Amino acid sequence: MTTAVCPGSFDPITNGHLDIVTRASRHFDEVVVLVTGNPTKTSGLFTIDERVELIREATAHLNGVRVDSWGGLLVDYTSAHHITALVKGLRSSLDYEYELPMAQMNRRLTGVDTYFLLTDEKYGYISSSLTKEVAKYGGDVTGLVPDTVREAMLKKFH
Ligand code: PNS
Repeated sequence: MTTAVCPGSFDPITNGHLDIVTRASRHFDEVVVLVTGNPTKTSGLFTIDERVELIREATAHLNGVRVDSWGGLLVDYTSAHHITALVKGLRSSLDYEYELPMAQMNRRLTGVDTYFLLTDEKYGYISSSLTKEVAKYGGDVTGLVPDTVREAMLKKFH
Protein backbone atom coordinates (compact mmCIF):
# COMPACT_ATOMS: atom_id res chain seq x y z
CA MET A 1 0.00 0.00 0.00
CA THR A 2 1.34 3.45 -0.91
CA THR A 3 0.88 6.27 1.57
CA ALA A 4 1.75 9.96 1.33
CA VAL A 5 1.58 12.77 3.83
CA CYS A 6 0.31 16.23 2.81
CA PRO A 7 1.75 18.40 5.60
CA GLY A 8 0.95 21.99 6.41
CA SER A 9 -0.30 24.45 8.95
CA PHE A 10 -3.73 24.60 7.27
CA ASP A 11 -4.91 27.70 9.17
CA PRO A 12 -7.34 27.13 7.53
CA ILE A 13 -7.48 24.64 4.65
CA THR A 14 -8.24 26.38 1.33
CA ASN A 15 -9.68 25.08 -1.91
CA GLY A 16 -6.12 25.12 -3.26
CA HIS A 17 -5.02 22.70 -0.52
CA LEU A 18 -8.10 20.60 -1.12
CA ASP A 19 -7.30 20.32 -4.82
CA ILE A 20 -3.77 19.09 -4.01
CA VAL A 21 -5.10 16.51 -1.50
CA THR A 22 -7.71 15.34 -4.02
CA ARG A 23 -5.15 14.91 -6.78
CA ALA A 24 -2.65 13.23 -4.42
CA SER A 25 -5.36 10.73 -3.46
CA ARG A 26 -5.49 9.58 -7.10
CA HIS A 27 -1.80 8.63 -6.98
CA PHE A 28 -1.52 7.08 -3.51
CA ASP A 29 -3.70 4.46 -1.81
CA GLU A 30 -3.76 6.55 1.34
CA VAL A 31 -3.15 10.24 1.97
CA VAL A 32 -2.67 11.63 5.45
CA VAL A 33 -3.37 15.35 5.71
CA LEU A 34 -1.09 16.27 8.58
CA VAL A 35 -1.61 19.47 10.55
CA THR A 36 1.77 20.32 12.01
CA GLY A 37 2.25 22.66 14.91
CA ASN A 38 2.30 22.78 18.67
CA PRO A 39 -1.20 21.96 19.98
CA THR A 40 -0.70 24.20 23.02
CA LYS A 41 0.33 27.22 20.95
CA THR A 42 -2.44 29.77 20.65
CA SER A 43 -1.10 31.56 17.56
CA GLY A 44 -3.20 31.25 14.44
CA LEU A 45 -6.86 31.81 13.80
CA PHE A 46 -7.91 28.21 14.44
CA THR A 47 -6.63 25.78 17.06
CA ILE A 48 -4.99 22.61 15.82
CA ASP A 49 -8.11 20.62 16.76
CA GLU A 50 -10.35 23.05 14.87
CA ARG A 51 -8.13 22.82 11.78
CA VAL A 52 -8.24 19.02 11.94
CA GLU A 53 -12.04 19.06 12.21
CA LEU A 54 -12.42 21.48 9.29
CA ILE A 55 -10.16 19.30 7.13
CA ARG A 56 -12.11 16.18 8.15
CA GLU A 57 -15.33 17.81 6.98
CA ALA A 58 -13.78 19.07 3.74
CA THR A 59 -12.23 15.69 2.84
CA ALA A 60 -15.02 13.39 4.07
CA HIS A 61 -16.01 12.59 0.47
CA LEU A 62 -12.49 11.47 -0.52
CA ASN A 63 -11.59 7.78 -0.32
CA GLY A 64 -8.33 6.94 1.39
CA VAL A 65 -7.85 10.37 2.95
CA ARG A 66 -7.46 10.78 6.70
CA VAL A 67 -6.42 13.64 8.92
CA ASP A 68 -3.94 13.76 11.77
CA SER A 69 -1.87 16.32 13.69
CA TRP A 70 1.71 16.33 14.88
CA GLY A 71 3.72 18.66 17.10
CA GLY A 72 7.24 17.49 16.30
CA LEU A 73 9.52 17.11 13.30
CA LEU A 74 7.64 16.06 10.20
CA VAL A 75 10.19 13.33 9.45
CA ASP A 76 9.68 11.80 12.89
CA TYR A 77 6.02 11.32 12.00
CA THR A 78 6.77 9.81 8.59
CA SER A 79 9.46 7.48 9.99
CA ALA A 80 7.22 6.32 12.85
CA HIS A 81 4.51 5.42 10.33
CA HIS A 82 6.89 4.02 7.66
CA ILE A 83 5.78 6.68 5.17
CA THR A 84 8.28 7.57 2.46
CA ALA A 85 6.47 10.28 0.49
CA LEU A 86 5.38 13.84 1.13
CA VAL A 87 3.16 15.79 -1.27
CA LYS A 88 3.04 19.57 -1.48
CA GLY A 89 1.58 22.07 -3.90
CA LEU A 90 3.64 24.65 -5.78
CA ARG A 91 1.90 27.89 -6.76
CA SER A 92 4.93 29.79 -7.98
CA SER A 93 8.69 30.15 -7.86
CA LEU A 94 8.25 31.75 -4.42
CA ASP A 95 6.80 28.49 -3.14
CA TYR A 96 9.65 26.63 -4.80
CA GLU A 97 12.25 28.76 -2.96
CA TYR A 98 10.44 28.11 0.33
CA GLU A 99 9.88 24.40 -0.23
CA LEU A 100 13.23 23.37 -1.72
CA PRO A 101 15.35 23.62 1.46
CA MET A 102 12.64 21.88 3.51
CA ALA A 103 12.39 19.04 0.99
CA GLN A 104 16.18 18.69 0.91
CA MET A 105 16.45 18.83 4.70
CA ASN A 106 13.74 16.22 5.14
CA ARG A 107 15.44 13.99 2.57
CA ARG A 108 18.79 14.39 4.29
CA LEU A 109 17.26 13.54 7.67
CA THR A 110 15.47 10.33 6.72
CA GLY A 111 15.44 9.89 2.93
CA VAL A 112 11.76 10.85 2.67
CA ASP A 113 10.94 12.15 -0.82
CA THR A 114 8.80 15.21 -1.53
CA TYR A 115 6.52 15.14 -4.57
CA PHE A 116 5.36 18.50 -5.87
CA LEU A 117 2.08 19.01 -7.66
CA LEU A 118 1.68 22.24 -9.60
CA THR A 119 -1.30 24.18 -8.29
CA ASP A 120 -4.23 24.41 -10.63
CA GLU A 121 -4.29 27.88 -12.23
CA LYS A 122 -7.69 28.52 -10.60
CA TYR A 123 -6.07 28.41 -7.16
CA GLY A 124 -2.68 29.99 -7.84
CA TYR A 125 -3.37 33.17 -5.87
CA ILE A 126 -5.11 31.58 -2.89
CA SER A 127 -3.38 31.32 0.47
CA SER A 128 -4.65 30.76 4.00
CA SER A 129 -3.32 34.15 5.09
CA LEU A 130 -4.92 36.07 2.21
CA THR A 131 -8.31 34.42 2.71
CA LYS A 132 -8.12 35.25 6.43
CA GLU A 133 -7.36 38.87 5.66
CA VAL A 134 -10.21 39.15 3.17
CA ALA A 135 -12.67 37.46 5.57
CA LYS A 136 -11.48 39.59 8.49
CA TYR A 137 -12.45 42.80 6.71
CA GLY A 138 -15.77 41.44 5.48
CA GLY A 139 -14.76 40.35 1.98
CA ASP A 140 -16.39 37.36 0.30
CA VAL A 141 -14.27 34.19 0.34
CA THR A 142 -16.86 31.99 -1.35
CA GLY A 143 -15.10 29.58 -3.69
CA LEU A 144 -11.70 30.20 -2.10
CA VAL A 145 -12.24 27.92 0.91
CA PRO A 146 -14.71 25.09 1.60
CA ASP A 147 -18.13 26.40 2.75
CA THR A 148 -17.68 25.02 6.28
CA VAL A 149 -14.39 26.92 6.54
CA ARG A 150 -16.04 30.12 5.29
CA GLU A 151 -18.71 29.79 7.96
CA ALA A 152 -16.12 29.05 10.66
CA MET A 153 -14.13 32.14 9.62
CA LEU A 154 -17.23 34.31 9.73
CA LYS A 155 -17.92 33.07 13.28
CA LYS A 156 -14.38 33.89 14.37
CA PHE A 157 -14.38 37.38 12.91
CA HIS A 158 -17.91 38.63 13.51
O1 PNS B 1 1.72 25.54 5.83
P1 PNS B 1 3.11 25.44 5.33
O2 PNS B 1 3.90 26.67 5.62
O3 PNS B 1 3.15 25.05 3.88
O4 PNS B 1 3.77 24.22 6.12
C1 PNS B 1 5.13 24.13 6.44
C2 PNS B 1 5.34 22.86 7.26
C3 PNS B 1 4.29 22.80 8.35
C4 PNS B 1 5.17 21.66 6.34
C5 PNS B 1 6.73 22.86 7.88
O5 PNS B 1 6.86 24.02 8.63
C6 PNS B 1 6.96 21.64 8.76
O6 PNS B 1 7.22 20.58 8.24
N1 PNS B 1 6.88 21.80 10.09
C7 PNS B 1 7.04 20.71 11.02
C8 PNS B 1 8.36 20.85 11.79
C9 PNS B 1 9.52 20.41 10.92
O7 PNS B 1 9.64 19.25 10.54
N2 PNS B 1 10.40 21.38 10.57
C10 PNS B 1 11.56 21.14 9.74
C11 PNS B 1 11.18 21.25 8.26
S1 PNS B 1 12.58 20.92 7.22
